[in-house]
Order: sequence, then C-alpha cells, then structure tokens
Amino acid sequence: MSETLERWGSKRAFILAVTGAAVGLGNIWRFPYVAGENGGAAFLLIYVGFVLLLGIPVMMAEILIGRAGRRGPIQALGALAMDAGASANWRWLGIFGAFTVFCILSFYSVVSGWSIEFLVASVNGQFSGATAAEIGAGFDAFLASPGLLIFNHSLFLFMTMTVVAAGVSKGLERLNNLLMPLLYGLLLLLAGYAATTDGFSTALAWLFLPSFEALTPTVVLHAMGHAFFTLAVGACALMAYGAYMPEDQSLPKAAVAVAALDISVALLAGIAIFSVVFAQGMDPAEGPGLMFVTLPIAFAELPGGVVWLSVFFLLLLLATWTSAINLAEPMVVTLQGLGCRRSIATAIVALSVWLMGLLSAFSFSTLADFRPLFGRNAFELVSSIPPDVFLPLGGLMIAIFAAWVMPRATAMKALGAGEGGYLLWRNVVRWVSIPLTFIVLLGGLL
Ligand code: PFF
Ligand code: NA
Repeated sequence: MSETLERWGSKRAFILAVTGAAVGLGNIWRFPYVAGENGGAAFLLIYVGFVLLLGIPVMMAEILIGRAGRRGPIQALGALAMDAGASANWRWLGIFGAFTVFCILSFYSVVSGWSIEFLVASVNGQFSGATAAEIGAGFDAFLASPGLLIFNHSLFLFMTMTVVAAGVSKGLERLNNLLMPLLYGLLLLLAGYAATTDGFSTALAWLFLPSFEALTPTVVLHAMGHAFFTLAVGACALMAYGAYMPEDQSLPKAAVAVAALDISVALLAGIAIFSVVFAQGMDPAEGPGLMFVTLPIAFAELPGGVVWLSVFFLLLLLATWTSAINLAEPMVVTLQGLGCRRSIATAIVALSVWLMGLLSAFSFSTLADFRPLFGRNAFELVSSIPPDVFLPLGGLMIAIFAAWVMPRATAMKALGAGEGGYLLWRNVVRWVSIPLTFIVLLGGLL
C-alpha cells in the first residue's frame, strides 16, 4: 500500500480528533472507579506523573511514527523499519495493537451501551424522585439483564461502525468541536454543585491528600495502565490518526494540549462523583457501577436535574463514540492492508467485536462466576489486562521504535519541533519513559 495523501483539514482538526479519541469512558467512568479501588489521591498523583513522564512522550512517539509512515500502522512500521535497515518483524507491533483495541472495544461498547440505556431512562423521567437506594437497585437489576446489555451494546457498535465505514468524516470533526466544550461546561456545573454538598471536602481530601500506605506495585501498574488508556496511547490507534496529520504542525504542542484537556475532564468528573459518594455514605470502591449510580443520585436532587442528567448522558455517549471510532480504526486499516475493501473490513470488525462483547455482557449474570484467570470474570479481565498490560507493552515497543530504531532525520521531521525539541524528546523517551515503563510493568507483573 502506498502513502496516503489524505490529511486532516487543519491543525485544529487534528487536535480535535486526538482529543475525541482521548476523552471518553476513561475519564468519566474508569478514572473514578479505578481510583476508588486503588486508594484515591496516591493513585491520582501517580497517574498524573505517568501522563507527564510516559503518556505525553510516548503519545508523540506513536503519532510521529504514523506521520512519518503516512500509512496504516502495520504498513508504516514495516516501511519505516526497512528504511532504517531494521527487521520487518516490527509489523507485528501493529498487529499486537489491533489485538489490543479488539479487546478494549469489546467492553467499551458494552459500557457505552449503559449510557444509552441511562440516557433513555433519564429522558423518560425514571430517575425523578427516586431515592439513592432505588437508583442503586435499578442499576443492579439492569446489569442482571443480559438481553438489555446486549441490545445497547449492539446499538452502540452499530453507531460506531457506521461512521467508521463512511470514513472519519468532517461531520465528526465538527460535532466534536461543538460538543466537547458543552461536556466540559456540564462537568463544571456538576463540580460546582458538588461543592455545595456535604461530601465535597471529604472528596477533595480523598482525591488530593495522598496516603502512601495504599501504594503497592499493583496500584502503580494500574496507574500506569490508566495513563496509557486515558490518552489512547499504546495500541497504534493514534498512529493511525497521525498518518493524516498536516505537514507543518508541532506534535509536542498538540500532545500537551490533548493531555491537559484529558486530565482536567477526569478531575472534574472525579470531584463531582466522589462528592456524591461521600455525601451519600457510599463506598468509593464500588466498582464499575460507580458513576452510573452516583450521577443519577446527584442530579435527582438538583432543580431541573432530570434534564441535566439527560444532557450529561448524551454528551458522555458522544464522547465515547469518538473514542470507539478511534479504537476501531487500527483493526479496519489492518484488514484493508490485507486486501479487504473498507466496507467488508468494517463488517468483519463489527461482527467479531460484537461476539467478543457478549462475554462482557454476560459477565454480570450468567457468566458472573466464570473466572478463567486470576479469579476474574471475562469483563474484569478485558477491562483490566489490555489497559494495564497490553497498552504499556505496546507503548514500550512504540517508544523503542521511535527513539532507537528510526533514523534521526525522519523522526525529527515528523516531530515538527526543531532539533532542540527533538533531542529533548528523545532523551526523555530513551532515559525516562522506556526504563520506567519497563520497570513498572515488570514490578507489577511479578
Ligand atoms: N482514551 C479512551 C478513553 O479514555 O475512554 C479509550 C481509548 C481509546 C483507549 C483508544 C485506547 C485507544 F486506543
Ligand atoms: Na481519556
């Protein structure tokens, strides 16, 4: 396959596309519940540290490869490796990335389906006047109905794959452009409301005053995995977007902007959610249901809350939609590289992700006690191992490729930050990001 001539319409469009990939369930759903299970402030501190030391530099490495290769990830890695006189086996990194996004999208679609269900329930007024206990029980009953989970999973995947089949259009760029500020505004509003509740000061202390007794190698591994997950780094998905990056854009500036937005969305969501958790005397380690229970409770008490709740779920859905499209892209491009037409490739991906997603959907009922590995059921496995292990592993290889294998001139041009910027980036990746990822992965796994 030869080089692509397609480009994002503008620098801004590129930043929006990457932000669309980054901001999603990771910020609003996964961050609060994983932080809740891993001690709060210490987790937050370490995860932000990882974003700075690994997330941003490796994001640059990943996008840089796509931009230098101007092809789908596998072809780009193969072609660049050949140019550098290295082994064509680097292509396997692209295949590993496709496998990683396959696992992630399978549960991502199921959980995004929850927001469809909650959007509809909210619009129908099912939360108005409900007590905290009723809302909690309603969520448990929902999870116990595989039919409902599968229906919403199917709907979400259909929405995603339709856009993917059409090619990532200008339409989506514009939609993102319009809706991200709205999501942000709503989160600010929620955090402002949270400040008036009894749980606010406890939530702040819990999120921002670290106690380091809670720290184990596993918590550190979760924090690192989350840094990769939330930035959408390590699966070659951003590499795919890098191929369409405009010629004269600075990659470091774009990466820093995306990371700043991503972290701030997570912080706002965390403040809002934990204030409610503490105000209602709930358990921060409640698990994946955390957001779906706390937010309806919070909004039920706000004037006009049902309207805001509906708007919130709508925006969440749109945020997860843009991330899911990014998750699907590397798989589709991979199949296209094997000679499939885009429409066929999309259909194959949709069907296999749908089937894989069934495992997650049944994990809350029929398959709840089917625990094939580490005592975890299918949903617990796909929502933890790919983010915590596969993404850092992929990120590690991506970093090694960009900072050690690629010739200096090629990488420098693709970074778009001059020689000084390039050397600074390369030193950070070589001497900080790579060793740190390696050590944390090893420590967490042993
Ligand atoms: N960054 C997305 C989120 O925070 O929800 C998830 C994600 C997207 C992970 C794309 C990995 C990826 F390649
Ligand atoms: Na994110």
